[in-house]
This record gives sequence, C-alpha cells and structure tokens, in this order.
Amino acid sequence: MSLGIDIKFVNVGSMQLVNHGIPYEIINNMVGVSKRFFEMPYSEREIMYSRLYLSGQAIPCSYNQRTDGVFCWRDFLKLVCQPLPDVLPHCPSSPNDFRTLAVSYAKEVKFLFLMLVDAILESLGLMNKRNVTQKDDDKDEDEDKEEEGEILKEFEDGSQLMILNCYPPCPQPDLTLGMPPHSDYGFLTLLLQDEVKGLQIQHQKNWVTVEPIPGSFVVNVGDHLEIFSNGRYKSVLHRVLVNSMNYRISVASLHSLPFKSTIQPCPKLISQTNPRRYMDTNFSSFLEFLKSGDSTKKNFLESRKLTS
Ligand code: OGA
Ligand code: NI
Repeated sequence: MSLGIDIKFVNVGSMQLVNHGIPYEIINNMVGVSKRFFEMPYSEREIMYSRLYLSGQAIPCSYNQRTDGVFCWRDFLKLVCQPLPDVLPHCPSSPNDFRTLAVSYAKEVKFLFLMLVDAILESLGLMNKRNVTQKDDDKDEDEDKEEEGEILKEFEDGSQLMILNCYPPCPQPDLTLGMPPHSDYGFLTLLLQDEVKGLQIQHQKNWVTVEPIPGSFVVNVGDHLEIFSNGRYKSVLHRVLVNSMNYRISVASLHSLPFKSTIQPCPKLISQTNPRRYMDTNFSSFLEFLKSGDSTKKNFLESRKLTS
C-alpha cells in the first residue's frame, strides 16, 4: 500500500500505524479524558449511562454475559458518532471537556480511516489512481471513476462507533480476560491503547501481544472488509488480557458503511475463478446474531460464509 505514512505490519489483518499525522496532543487528550471518565464514581457514571440509553445511543453489548464462557474484567462506554459535522450529539456531560476532546478526536480518526480506505481500495485494484488527473474521453474510465467516487462517498457517510475501554487491575488475572477472542464487526478498527500491554492478536494459532507504541494506532481488519474484499483481507481475531498492577485504557473506533447499508462482496472482486464467498449482511442480521448468543470468535463471519 502506498499511504505516504509509515506502516509497521505486525500481522496479516492487523498493523500499527505511526507518523499518521494526528497531533499527539489530540491523542493524549482522548486517553486522558477517558481515564478521568472512568475515575468518576460509578454512581455518577450510572446516571449518564442511563441517559445515553434513553436517548437511543446505547448500542447493545457485543458479548452476551449470560452465554459467554468467560466474564470480562472490563468497564466500557460506547458512543455512536453521527456523520460529520454533528459528531456525538449525545455524550457524557462530565468531565466537562469530554465532548470537545472526543469530537476533535473522532473527526481526526475518521479522516485517517478515509485515507486508509483509499489505500485499501487501491490495493484491491478498485482505484484508478494513475488516470485521476488525466483528461480522457474513455466512457468506461469515466464510469469507473464515478463508481469509485460513490464507494468513497458511502464511507464518508459511514458509521463510526467509539468504544472507550477501561480494564482495572485484577487480583486474579489468570482466571479471566478483559475481552474474549473476537473479530470486530466493521470494516476497520482504529485502536488507541495506552502504555499498558494487554491486546493480543492471533497469528498462526498463537496469541501475540501487540506492544504499545506511544501515539500509534493499531489498525485491525474487521468482518466487513473481509466480506467486501471477498476474502482478500482477513479479519483479525484478538483478545485482551488483564493484569494485577495497572489500569489499562483503550479507545476503539469502529468504522464501516452506514448502519442501513448492505455489506456484500464487491462485484468487481467476484469472477468465475474467484466466486462469491459471503452472503449479504446488514446491521439487523448482526443484531439477530447477537441475540442468538455465541458472538465471540469469528462466528458472525462464519455464519455469513457461503459453503459451495
Ligand atoms: C474492541 C477491542 C481491544 C483493547 O474494543 O473491540 O478489541 O485493547 N479492544 O481494548
Ligand atoms: Ni475488538
């Protein structure tokens, strides 16, 4: 991929992004305000959680506590970011700088996501970069460019869900997990982790710790990109360990097409030699799946696979 920014691959399906252009201050402020939010007494946060729930901003938890084999040692806040410019219409009123800091962070991350999408579409042969500045009368190429513009526009208007995670120190870390193995629902997740280790990704059946690099983003391929690319990109299975010493904070930003869009393998990536591998999916089929119980591992994606 040619991004013009440094990419350090840690695995297929996951990479760490440095020199991404987002000012360190914005990143630092987001981690800082998340810490301050989780430091507030639960009684204060509870009132805000229920307000967010009543405003329809609460997204169901991705893990079903009744059926999960492992209970998670984790506190979290999920925030739906509306399409720009009305980012975060509902967000905690305290700390009082929460909204300002979270909005500037959400906007920067969305922009970075769009740059990554651009590079991914190019890597899939769906962007005709060389001809972008050339004037040509070729009708097919004009149609291609129109199509490319449409895909990008859909991502610009796409969904963004921010999840603030807090993993408190755990007296018996070997008996639990911060988050069970799962792959993310969207197209890409841009994850900010503080300096405390915990995130692991699965690579050739082994769990590999993603070493925190200050100011960097972990970029994880989600199920929607695996479907869209008809299997060329693979979503990454990951989990979170906890420890007995330190609080750990992370901020995950999950991006995809608009919630109401259908996610399907891109028609240009389907051929006789590379037939369609996944059925169409959308947000309601995901919610249906969550209700059914087993939402860990890559089971949602498995349920979308075509067998023949
Ligand atoms: C997530 C996630 C990892 C982490 O929120 O989906 O995988 O390090 N978070 O908190
Ligand atoms: Ni995840």
